[in-house]
Amino acid sequence: MNIRRAFGAIVLMLAALPVVPAVAASGVAVPAVTAGTLIVLDAFASRHVPARDIYVWLPDGYRPDRRYAVVYAHDGQMLFDPSTTWNGQAWGLDEVAGRLQAQGDVRDFIVVGIPNAGAERDAEYLPEQPLRQMSDAERRAFFTAFGDAAEQLQETLRSDRYLRFLVEELKPHIDANFPVLADPANTFLLGSSKGGLISIYALARYPDVFGGAACLSTHWPGVLPPADNPFPAHMRDFLAGNLVGGKRVWFDHGTVGLDAAYGDLQRDIDRVMRERGYAAANWTTRVYEGADHSEADWRARLHEPLGFLLAPAPDDALARVASPDGRLQFSLHRGRFDALTYRVTFGDETVIGDSALGLLFAEQPGFDRGLRVVDTARASHDETWEQPWGERRFVRDRHEELRVAIADEAGRRIDLRVRVFDDGLGFRYEVPAQDGLGAVNIVDELTEFALPAGSTAWWIPGRRYNRYEYLYRTTGLDAVEMAHTPFTLRTPRGTHLSIHEAALVDYAAFVLDQRRDNVFQANLTPWSDGIRVKTAAPFKTPWRTVQVAEAATGLLDSSLILNLNEPNKLGDVSWVEPGKYVGIWWAMHIRTRTWGSGMIHGATTAETKRYMDFAAKHGFDGVLVEGWNIGWDGDWFHNGDLFSFTEAYPDFDLAAIGEYGEELGVRLVGHHETSGNVSNYAAQMGDAFDLYEKHGVRQVKTGYVADAGDIKRVDENGLVHYEWHDGQFMAGEYLKSVTEAAKRRISINTHEPIKDTGLRRTYPNWISREGAKGQEFNAWGDPPNPPEHTAILPYTRMLSGPMDFTPGIFDLTFGGAEWRHRVQTTLAKQLALYVTLYSPIQMAADLPKNYEARPDVFRFIVDVPTDWEESRAVAGEVGDYVVFARRERGGDDWYLGAVTDDEERRVDVPLDFLEPGRSYTAMIYRDGAGAHWKTDPYAITIEERTADHDDVLSLWLAPGGGAAVRFAAGARE
Ligand code: NOJ
Ligand code: CA
Repeated sequence: MNIRRAFGAIVLMLAALPVVPAVAASGVAVPAVTAGTLIVLDAFASRHVPARDIYVWLPDGYRPDRRYAVVYAHDGQMLFDPSTTWNGQAWGLDEVAGRLQAQGDVRDFIVVGIPNAGAERDAEYLPEQPLRQMSDAERRAFFTAFGDAAEQLQETLRSDRYLRFLVEELKPHIDANFPVLADPANTFLLGSSKGGLISIYALARYPDVFGGAACLSTHWPGVLPPADNPFPAHMRDFLAGNLVGGKRVWFDHGTVGLDAAYGDLQRDIDRVMRERGYAAANWTTRVYEGADHSEADWRARLHEPLGFLLAPAPDDALARVASPDGRLQFSLHRGRFDALTYRVTFGDETVIGDSALGLLFAEQPGFDRGLRVVDTARASHDETWEQPWGERRFVRDRHEELRVAIADEAGRRIDLRVRVFDDGLGFRYEVPAQDGLGAVNIVDELTEFALPAGSTAWWIPGRRYNRYEYLYRTTGLDAVEMAHTPFTLRTPRGTHLSIHEAALVDYAAFVLDQRRDNVFQANLTPWSDGIRVKTAAPFKTPWRTVQVAEAATGLLDSSLILNLNEPNKLGDVSWVEPGKYVGIWWAMHIRTRTWGSGMIHGATTAETKRYMDFAAKHGFDGVLVEGWNIGWDGDWFHNGDLFSFTEAYPDFDLAAIGEYGEELGVRLVGHHETSGNVSNYAAQMGDAFDLYEKHGVRQVKTGYVADAGDIKRVDENGLVHYEWHDGQFMAGEYLKSVTEAAKRRISINTHEPIKDTGLRRTYPNWISREGAKGQEFNAWGDPPNPPEHTAILPYTRMLSGPMDFTPGIFDLTFGGAEWRHRVQTTLAKQLALYVTLYSPIQMAADLPKNYEARPDVFRFIVDVPTDWEESRAVAGEVGDYVVFARRERGGDDWYLGAVTDDEERRVDVPLDFLEPGRSYTAMIYRDGAGAHWKTDPYAITIEERTADHDDVLSLWLAPGGGAAVRFAAGARE
């Protein structure tokens, strides 16, 4: 017997439910089912009607992670098991519903069987409103027909309360405890005879709750006789006045027994149906010749009403486009006031529910209502392009494109362009040139992302003073107010998503703003005057992107953001040089040197030469020098006006350094700190880059240290305005520094940047940037970066592009192990970061003396390249750990990095990325026995062994630990 009992508790996990005996606690015999599973909600209590057992039928193959439509069926004790009914007949609902679903003829559904109240059945099933519409005489005549029971029936009449029980008590319980689609379009009623009456009555009374009803052999007379029965006319009038259009309605009857009396009355109702706009698409009335008024006959035809009611949901999409593998789908729909909405599904999971689209303008009407699709165009695209540098040389761009041409009532035009890849999608607005839309001020973008309720998110807050430099939070969606992107989440079904944008040019960045539960709006960062974007048609927005992957690692292998950017616009970029650098930098952060002049000024000619010697000796490409130029003395954070980008302090000889570097084959890496005073910088930018170019500098690190919203802009009238780092103005300033630098064959590494949106593809000299908490926070951050920080970064910040994190601190406890500022990793983990945090330029951030003290460990930093032929995310979970394998650009050696959060763990890494039939020497740098970031961070084991494609490397990662491996390619078999 396939019956289980639930005591009103959560019943999502069927396996946990006990099998119950054939008699319920209430003493009623429990039906058996031949298909699916029956759950009994024992003596379900109500404030409106007497308690009763409720039968919840679940189909075979029921899965708590699916979503089911629901059929509320009356006369619940007659539905399943003939051996438990008064007349030995039953509907066989379990069998029919099971068969229809197994055949895939209907959407997935469950049935909620509501037993009738026995002797008080009529009291619950006779629609009250039509009875109330009767005159006294009519009512008297009507009830007389019930003979002795008339008086009691009138007293107990409670069909309105029965419906309140259904709508206010039972349905909320079902919605909360079963994985159902609770919307009206998926909520149905089913009943026969007076159960048919109450079904159509419920549909008319609660159109916001129910989407359809199947009424078999509906007992339109209400009672029989009298011949001049007033009920049918009142019932008909009630429906004429109350039944809304657009529902799904099934009526039928036989021609024998009681059913013989229904034909004329049904024809009256059918007239009402036509008046209410019902037609074949959503309404059927069927006559079954020879059928009687019996469960046996209802059973014989039940597949037809159920098939009609639960027909697969109609496709209401205005347009749709799917990924090349068909799994990911974007569809466009009509919203309220004829606005447009979109939806994204991944397999059978809706990953973005119906979400708004649109733009609002200051002076013109927005594209937010009265829109219609005037044309659609499609294209398939499959191309492989090459990166000048990157985490992989070749990138495949394979997508399906849909362009939807949209017009408003005035004929103004906007296009929506959508590209769907196997690993995600992007869409953007394109507003063509047209009359009436010259200059426009965008005051709001309406784009929303309706995310799956119950998802877990990894995020940093948006519109806060420290820009992107916050610790990532791991929370439910409800804890998020405004968040920056990439915004990463895992849905209750385990799917991973990341929302971001691509190709942010001449537009404002957005933060995700939770406006209603689970619905996030793309909130554009405003100018200081409140306008979000100042532009003119034609214009296009950045791509709004959604990465989708089953596994967390699926996010890491995606090139979606790059694929949605324009190809290289700079032509020959052979002068863009990936590589490693050291610098006069960490010493300032741990306060043993200063940026400003004085006794311990860091940027002196002598100190720079010392670093250059070190760099040359160990094969580094560059030496970063910060604090060489006038302006650092005093409160440089607030006095960005004072920075000169061409005048050096007297103890720093730029020309001599340039020459010295040239002799050694090491380049000076330049530094421009603006302190957010971009107008001061802009005025000097040309000269500043010219100067660096003259002295052989090929790379400049820029800085925009200023609170978010405090970027100082001086306008053409000399008036001062304060702007955000990620508004339209700064999007332009950052890019200007990159294009100006490109003219001098200089690459840019931006600190305190605007978020990366993949522009490195178009401008390959935008070689790296910061944009998250980097190593510097370990020098002075309160708290320093916790161990999980670098186990979250790959899945969040790094999805946008390379980061200049500056790994490689060896003196992890520079202030003593008890000092609150320290590095919360093991030594081995510092090495692993060179592989797990991708950047084409990597710093060895510590002081030379600390490297000289550990040449055995330093060896890995010397060996590890920064430019890759291919990269693979081997394993990981967001916030827990990550393992990457990468093959050197133009070489055969592989490198592996693994980092964990503060949990120790063992990872078994199949080495199947190695070339088959080739032997490798694995140089392994792993946490030593007993290693722990806090108590024993220096314990490290360095070992060498052979490895090949068929091996599995088992690595133990200490709490806060990691491992780094170089696989040096040896002979082929
Ligand atoms: C913040 C940067 O992130 C850091 O690397 C730099 O040293 C300081 N600003 C000074 O420019
Ligand atoms: Ca910074």
